[in-house]
Amino acid sequence: MLIPKILIPIILSARISSQPVTAGYNYKEALKLSLLFYEAQRSGILPESNRISWRSDSALNDQGIKGEDLTGGYYDAADFVKFGFTIAYSMTILAWGLVSYEETYRRIGQHNATAEAIKWGTDYIIKCHTAPFEFYAQVGDFPSDHKFWGRPEELNMTRPAHKIDKDQPGSDVAAEAAAALASASIVFQKIDPDYSHELIRHSTELFDFAYEYRGLFLDTFPGSKHYHENDDYYDELAWAAIWLYKATRLSKYAEIAKTLYTEHNLNQKPKTFFYNSKYAGIQVLLSQEFKNQEYVQAIKEFCDFAVDGMDKTPKGLIYINKLGTLAHAASISYVCLQASNFDKPEDKYVNLAKDQAAYILGSTGFSYLVGYGDSYPKQPHHAASSCKDLPAVCNWDDFRSTKPNPQILYGALVSGPSQIDHYEDVREEYLYNEVTIDYNAGLHSLLAGLMQHFNS
Ligand SMILES: *[C@@H]1O[C@H](CO)[C@@H](O)[C@H](O)[C@H]1NC(C)=O
Ligand SMILES: *[C@@H]1O[C@H](CO)[C@@H](O)[C@H](O)[C@H]1NC(C)=O
Repeated sequence: MLIPKILIPIILSARISSQPVTAGYNYKEALKLSLLFYEAQRSGILPESNRISWRSDSALNDQGIKGEDLTGGYYDAADFVKFGFTIAYSMTILAWGLVSYEETYRRIGQHNATAEAIKWGTDYIIKCHTAPFEFYAQVGDFPSDHKFWGRPEELNMTRPAHKIDKDQPGSDVAAEAAAALASASIVFQKIDPDYSHELIRHSTELFDFAYEYRGLFLDTFPGSKHYHENDDYYDELAWAAIWLYKATRLSKYAEIAKTLYTEHNLNQKPKTFFYNSKYAGIQVLLSQEFKNQEYVQAIKEFCDFAVDGMDKTPKGLIYINKLGTLAHAASISYVCLQASNFDKPEDKYVNLAKDQAAYILGSTGFSYLVGYGDSYPKQPHHAASSCKDLPAVCNWDDFRSTKPNPQILYGALVSGPSQIDHYEDVREEYLYNEVTIDYNAGLHSLLAGLMQHFNS
């Protein structure tokens, strides 16, 4: 078993340092671990700075219908499909956290690393945007991918690329990609202005595409319903419009967002804040930009409901769904932490966020973030980390093995416990142990927000 060398100092310093921790949790260490998870999910040619010893270049033949280079980006989860939708959502949430809590990121020395994680995603999104009205929304296929269990470096199935265009639109995916690039452009305004401009250019084109050619990716490519759900695209359109407004300050984007908000009931109290439900995010961003009571009221209703109304497990975890339990709790907590200081500080939202983060990091005696604390998931549902060191073969026997994953998937947030706090650390049980790039995103920005709030 190889421990990435870079982790040794992190672990040692966590044990010996007397840095401030909040409620006994070291958010900084957790955030640094989460960055390692994003590194482990990288596809394409890895840079020399790669810290994951058991990963190397992979999926170098990923390409579009005309041979366009589609290498890079992130694998979604245990498997190796690259979903534009979840990659874009994850980058938007990371960028939102980075622009909101920039000083904290700089103070803890993780601004550069998080910007790099975002750029890994946005570089790929730009590659997928091969023409103004053309976007490769997915690379790889669920059925063929799921016949394989092993290392990404050894993928050998065909990986078809699925394109949306004028005839087969996907407003949800195109708008989410626009949101990712717009939010990232704010990150790069100061550190790399040329890149920031490039991000804006692609973002505005993707937004026009999403807005003018309406359709759901699910309808264009029904095969995608195996793994992602989305009912409509109005929230993605408004979300992208607000991000473009924040990035460009062009009032037309604010007007579009406000109009969509009114015409498509975006004031509704949603069930959650998640990759396929951006209502609460829109409400909080509109509130922050325009201080209008209508928007403030909407997000407060949602967050009050999160505090008092949503189902909780006996030990206090917000319970939305058996898949991604912890990720729902983390992203709801994040959006409500964003909503915690409009007119007067809302301590109850901060407390909610702190308690949910505590549950994730160990208040029940178990941490659901791999590598954090003494007791954490040993068998995340994740192919690459289930493989022994080369030259051992890796296949379904490793999937079925009852031993810990030979590689520690540092920083991965697992799906989490059931409605009654029941959890089993079993690789095959994806309901408990699934990991994905979008699960981690809300937690990542939540941790930064808590650090900023508590100056910890
Ligand atoms: C991170 O820092 C390195 C070294 O200073 C620099 O080359 C790189 O551009 C930075 N990355 C980002 C995304 O700012
Ligand atoms: C992929 O690899 C497996 C296992 O080595 C092998 O059985 C299979 O024939 C390969 N498929 C292709 C398309 O090369």
